[in-house]
Amino acid sequence: MPTSSADGTGRPAQYLQVDDLSAGYGGTVIVNGASASVGPGEIVTIVGPNGAGKSTFLKAIVGMIPAISGRVRLGGEDVTNMRANNLAKRGLGYVPQVNDVFDTLSVFDNLAIGGYLLSRPDAAKRTEAVLETFPALKAMLKRTASKLSGGERKMLAIARVLMLEPRLLVLDEPTSNLSADLSRMLLEEHVRRLGKGGTAVLIVEQKALAALTISDWAYVMAAGTMKVSSAAKELLARKDIGEVFLGRSTEPASLPKASGGMD
Ligand SMILES: Nc1ncnc2c1ncn2[C@@H]1O[C@H](COP(=O)(O)OP(=O)(O)OP(=O)(O)O)[C@@H](O)[C@H]1O
Ligand SMILES: [Mg+2]
Repeated sequence: MPTSSADGTGRPAQYLQVDDLSAGYGGTVIVNGASASVGPGEIVTIVGPNGAGKSTFLKAIVGMIPAISGRVRLGGEDVTNMRANNLAKRGLGYVPQVNDVFDTLSVFDNLAIGGYLLSRPDAAKRTEAVLETFPALKAMLKRTASKLSGGERKMLAIARVLMLEPRLLVLDEPTSNLSADLSRMLLEEHVRRLGKGGTAVLIVEQKALAALTISDWAYVMAAGTMKVSSAAKELLARKDIGEVFLGRSTEPASLPKASGGMD
């Protein structure tokens, strides 16, 4: 994994770089000047209370809603306000919080749609590869997506996005509606493996402790801005972690200088 010591954090050179992003709905600003970055092979989690603007932040990055101001760069290229399908061509895969699969289509057809940019032989190869990653889906290729369990459905949603071998995977609450065991399996087995394989992963997660355990870096978002930027294990070690998760404690004093607070 390439490392950069330029910022003193030991983080890899950044693949996704979001600077001072603002976004909202119908003239209401929800995300107000938020910044974040993710390097290749890095797992980065955003935590924060309900309504903080986490999903809105992701939606503005992935081209689902317009950015009011700020900049999004992918591999050095300015992709601010680029449409979602052009971002997919550049290696960005996004699994939304809801509506993550096509309910009326079969598992196989969901995967086929995920591979819409590929030639037929390449799509066949990728289908095989993602089924190796999620072998549980192999036995249910003909099943309609609406009939899957919560865990199977989330695996399909991620598998569908993996069809295009994204270099950046953006996951909005991947474990919502999953049991604690399934959540751990999804994060510790699948998401961690993707990171080890070099994929940059940006996660918003309610099960903050489980997500931070597999993360390299973490941000805390509250009221539309990033209150804390820290190595995940340092965030986990904080005594005021409950307050930190709610975005109420922004005091970086207990963090080592190199990685504390926002710069
Ligand atoms: N489509 C929309 N139109 C108008 N307001 C919206 C829309 N989606 C979200 N909001 C508002 O934006 C604010 C932030 O919502 P967002 O979904 O980004 O929060 P979140 O941090 O992802 O919360 P959660 O943890 O509950 O998913 C909320 O007040 C919400 O009501
Ligand atoms: Mg959300």
